[in-house]
Order: sequence, then C-alpha cells, then structure tokens
Amino acid sequence: MPDDIRNTAIDDVSGDEPLSNFSANAYFGDILASRRAALLGSIGAAIGGFMGTSREAAAFTPAQAAAGGPTIGFKAIPVNNGDSVVVPEGYRVQVILPQGTPLNGQAPSRALVDMTGADQGNAVGAHHDGMHFFPIDGREPDQGSSTDGILAMNHEYIEPRFMHARARGIAVNSGRLPLVNGAKPADEALKEINAHGCTLVRIARGADGNWAIVADPRNRRVTGATPAEIAGPARGHALLRTKHSPDGTRTRGTLNNCAHGVTPWNTYLTCEENWAGYFVNRDQANGQPNLPREHRRYGVPTGQSRYNWDQVPGGADDYARFNASSTGADATQDYRNEPNTFGWIVEIDPWNPDRAPVKHTALGRFGHEGIVFAQAREGRPIVAYSGDDSRFEYIYKFVSARPFQRATASGALLDEGTLYVGKFNADGSGQWLPLVHGQGPLTAANGFADQGEVLVNTRLAADALGATKMDRPEWGAVDPRDGRVYFTLTNNTRRTAENQDAANPRPRNIFGHIIRWREAGDDHAATTFAWDIFLFAGDEANGRIGDKALTADNVVGCPDGLWFDAAGRLWIQTDIGESEQNRGPHAVFGNNQMLCADPQTGEMRRFLAGPTGQEVTGVTTTPDMRTMFVNLQHPGATTTPADWAAGRTNSAFPDGNGATPRSATLVITKVDGGIIGS
Ligand code: FEO
Ligand code: CA
Ligand code: CA
Repeated sequence: MPDDIRNTAIDDVSGDEPLSNFSANAYFGDILASRRAALLGSIGAAIGGFMGTSREAAAFTPAQAAAGGPTIGFKAIPVNNGDSVVVPEGYRVQVILPQGTPLNGQAPSRALVDMTGADQGNAVGAHHDGMHFFPIDGREPDQGSSTDGILAMNHEYIEPRFMHARARGIAVNSGRLPLVNGAKPADEALKEINAHGCTLVRIARGADGNWAIVADPRNRRVTGATPAEIAGPARGHALLRTKHSPDGTRTRGTLNNCAHGVTPWNTYLTCEENWAGYFVNRDQANGQPNLPREHRRYGVPTGQSRYNWDQVPGGADDYARFNASSTGADATQDYRNEPNTFGWIVEIDPWNPDRAPVKHTALGRFGHEGIVFAQAREGRPIVAYSGDDSRFEYIYKFVSARPFQRATASGALLDEGTLYVGKFNADGSGQWLPLVHGQGPLTAANGFADQGEVLVNTRLAADALGATKMDRPEWGAVDPRDGRVYFTLTNNTRRTAENQDAANPRPRNIFGHIIRWREAGDDHAATTFAWDIFLFAGDEANGRIGDKALTADNVVGCPDGLWFDAAGRLWIQTDIGESEQNRGPHAVFGNNQMLCADPQTGEMRRFLAGPTGQEVTGVTTTPDMRTMFVNLQHPGATTTPADWAAGRTNSAFPDGNGATPRSATLVITKVDGGIIGS
C-alpha cells in the first residue's frame, strides 16, 4: 500500500501503516557516544561489500563466483509518464484477470459497479498484489507445466468509488465513501469485504499464445469473510476468544493481503498487513480512548473504521465484528478480540478448495508484508523471513522446531518453532533475538504470561528485546545462488539525524534502500549474520548500487516488491505513494516501475513501467521462465475528487476509452519465446 494513502487519501487512517512504535527501545543506544563515526565507517564497508571488498564478501567461495550470473539482455526502457504499460523491445504484454472477472458459473459477467456483493465473491478481487503460479497438479514448487497452472494472488485493499454506482458524481478520494443516512449499506459492505482476500484461478496458454481462465472446481475466492482456522501456540488463547469462536480456534476472513509466500510443500501463504484499520474500538476511560495493548500497539482506530463495515445497521454479526469495543466482562459475548485474529500469515491450499485457510500464529502477529523461505533442505529446519511494514518496525525470521522431510512436510511445520527478530549492529554484524516466553525480558513479571501472549503482542515482545527499528520492511527475497537474504526498506520520512542508525542511515529517507545479509556459516538457522546495504534508491545524484551511481537506465524510488527468479535475477518493484508520484524529488522516476538486477555484478536496468497512479507489485514466472506475470495495483488512484465528481479518471487501464480503471495482471512474454530478462 502506498505510504500516503494513510496520510491523505483516507481520514482517520489509524492502522494503515501507522507509526505505532513508541517504545523506548534504543537506536543502538550502546554506541551513542561514537555513533556518527561508527555509522560512517560501517556504511562505507557495507557499500563496498557486494563488490567483493568486505569480510563478508570474501567468504564467498570461488565455486559460487564461478557459477556464473544470469544474463540481463534487454535494453533499459525510459521512465514512463503516460497511461500505458512500457516493456523493452522484443517483449509482448497481455492483460488478464482485471477486478470483477468471473471465476465460475456463480458470477455473471457485468460491469463492476453493477455487481452485487455475492457476485464479487465469485469474481477476481481488487488491488492485486503478491502472487504465485502453481504448475498444474505439481507436487514441487516451481516444477511442472509452464503452460497450465493455478495462479494464486492477493487483493490488498479496495477503491470504493470505482466499485459502487452511487459514488458517481461524488467528490471523493480513493478512501471510504460517505455513509447513507448514517449507515453503511449491507450489500456494499459485503461487496467490499468480498473484494479483499485472495483469488485462486486456473489459467492456461492457448494456441495463439494468449492465456485464459480454465474452468476448474479449484477456481475460487478466499475473502474477508471466509471461515478460517487458527493454528499454533496462540490457538485457543484467551485473547483470541470471540462471540463467533468462544474457544478461540476460528475466525472469519483475511484482510489487507499484501505480499505472499510459497511453502516448500507447495501451498500458498498470504500475509495480513494493514488489517488494524478495518476495526474500531471506542472503549474509553475518563473520557479518553482506553485500548488494550494488543490493539493500541497495532493502531486499531478509536473513531471510525477504515470502510465503515461496522456501521451496517441491524447489528448483523458479520459486520458488527468490526467493532472491537467491549460490552461487559465476558470477551465471548462481543468482538473485542476480533482484531487479535488478524495480523497473521495464512496458509491456503490451492489444490483443495474444501480446506479452510489456516492462520499460523507461531509466525507472529504484526503488519506482515510477505514471507520468503530459505531453500528447504532435507533433515534441516525450515526457515522463513517476514517484514513488518510500518515505520520503525522490525524484520523477523522463523526457524521450525522439526526438520523438513519432503515426503511428509505440511503446514504443521509452521506451528512449532522459534520466532526471532533482527538486530543490525553498526559494525555490519547482526543477531537474531528469540521471542520465546520465559527467556530474557519475555516473562510473566513483564506482562507476557505465556507464548500465546508473546505472539499476540509480537511487536511489544520485539520492543522488549531491543530489535532494530527499520525503514518500513517490505518484501524479502533469497538469492538462489548464494543464499543471501535481501529486504526492501521502502522509505521512512520520519527517520531523522537523531534516530538514524547504520542499517537505516538516511535521515528523512524518501527514496528507500535494500538491505541484505548472509547468515553465519551459510546456515539459515544461525543466530548471527553479516549485513550490508545493496542499494540506495534515488535519482542519479543520490542513488547508488555498490560504488556505482544510478543512471537514467535505473534510477528508482521506494523499492517494495522483491523477487528472485530461478536464475538469480533480482526483480525490484516500486511503490511511490500517490501524493509523491510524478512530483518533486520523485518526478524523475515517472510512474511506478520494475527493474531487473544481478546482485553479484551490480548491473540493474528498468524493465517495465506501468500506467498512471498505480504501483507495480507481485511478480512470478512459469517454471521455464518464459512467461512472467506482473500485477498492477490501483491504476487511477491519483484521480482527484474534483475530477472524479466530473466523471473523469486519470487512467483507463486496462479497458481504455475512458473506462474506470481496474487492477489487473500482465502476462509478459518475449516475442522470440526466450527467457524473460535474458
Ligand atoms: Fe502493502 Fe507494504 O505494501
Ligand atoms: Ca508499499
Ligand atoms: Ca507492498
């Protein structure tokens, strides 16, 4: 989600990537006196790292270096300021799956504004984000058919004015619509809830080279209302008990699904990012808001919920659950704990539509951007990384308690293990600090009664451990060639000279950067690591990759999406917020874009730029790397309220001819049938 959505597009944006870390957790407080000098020294070393000059880089073996990098063979495209999709010469683009595309026989094909709530529940959702192509009937991730598979994708949020006929002619921005006679119409709320979640749809390439939906019983939606199971240490915890599930084992729906993950056992993970704002808690004491810490630390609003779903009249349970105020002593008589059933990573089985989504609590509760696995090795723990995308939040990793056994691996591996949070030291070293009840400060005496309470309050537990506050951790990616882990830190305008640190060294970080690390002994389960900064995003004056200044071919702002293809090409997608796009210091970048890099050489080129107002987010390929899927989210979101009221949008993607814009998926192929990027 763009940064400024939270600040300008929606009133009362608490919970939408809020700054809610007010902990006293010091910024490298142990080196305060010499901080500046230490920072400068370590940054220099860090930048030099990937060019082969640091301690860490020296640890690379000749065999790894000799393995050879991927070819990046296309000519960089220029920045794009038009309402168009631009790709390099020799590439072809097809647009599929715009919001509202029917997935099965239960949704008629009709204009988005004419669809009912039920229709939207059987059609492609809004605001496409992270995604993965599962080769049809494959048993291993990324192996199998390259012409037929199930595409699983996230739908992060919605643009109500583009969805409802009554919004025509009203001067509204991309946030919520005004109430109707003081209430939220029930079917409007249902349609919005059903536009969230995930789409699972079988698609195949036809003889003409175009991709289309294939009828399949596995085509389905998971929405903001789909019944879900809760698993792991917090299952059944008192803090998860609600009127809907008095035993704390179930909830309904998944919300604000940003990036994704793919398990080594070939299932899909969807990550709940800015979920807090969908709720409201109006509890007060002495005339002031009085929220429990598991709401307050995540920014649950105290005035109005994000889309007013709690304002559907009649008190219907499906909507009243978004009001997390308490009604008395008994938590199973209201929905005070409903927000505690969000903020998790959710497993969806693309192969079994009857299996309910599972929220895996051992992976922690925060603003999960995504999750990325280290390569699974037989007999070793599985390891996965996840960032908490808010200003001054943290990067986490999970190490399973039980070893990976390919023949029997399942989601149960995600329910037992250790969650760690990252501490990035000024000297380029780092530690993983365990969030384990009873260890360190995470004791009953300090307010953590059990592991469930640690996990429901993951952010507070990480505060207590002294983790490093980062510049909005977004996607992570693991290099298939050397195992190094990369994370985008998209921006943080509230970083200052007073709270900067070596890993987040830019005051008022408007362009963002990409950090990376290598685990000690190349063991992803290790508890120490060595880090450096791979990329300082920016214009030609401020941007650097290693010791090279960025050029017209690769200037980049606000990196967000990040993904390695199987050959080791690093694909970088940008999310410059709506209020900054094409303006001021961000004007040089044009519309949001995607670049391709070889991290071992520092080569990087712009590959794609999207239409007006959108962000580029979500990328995957078929196993043969000859078809790439890229999502374009919220085209036209920068349309002003005045223009909208006058019947104009500044994007008509993808339908053209002045049509209301819709998020959609690009299918990118090479005209010569070659590998994408080569
Ligand atoms: Fe949903 Fe952090 O981007
Ligand atoms: Ca973002
Ligand atoms: Ca994102």
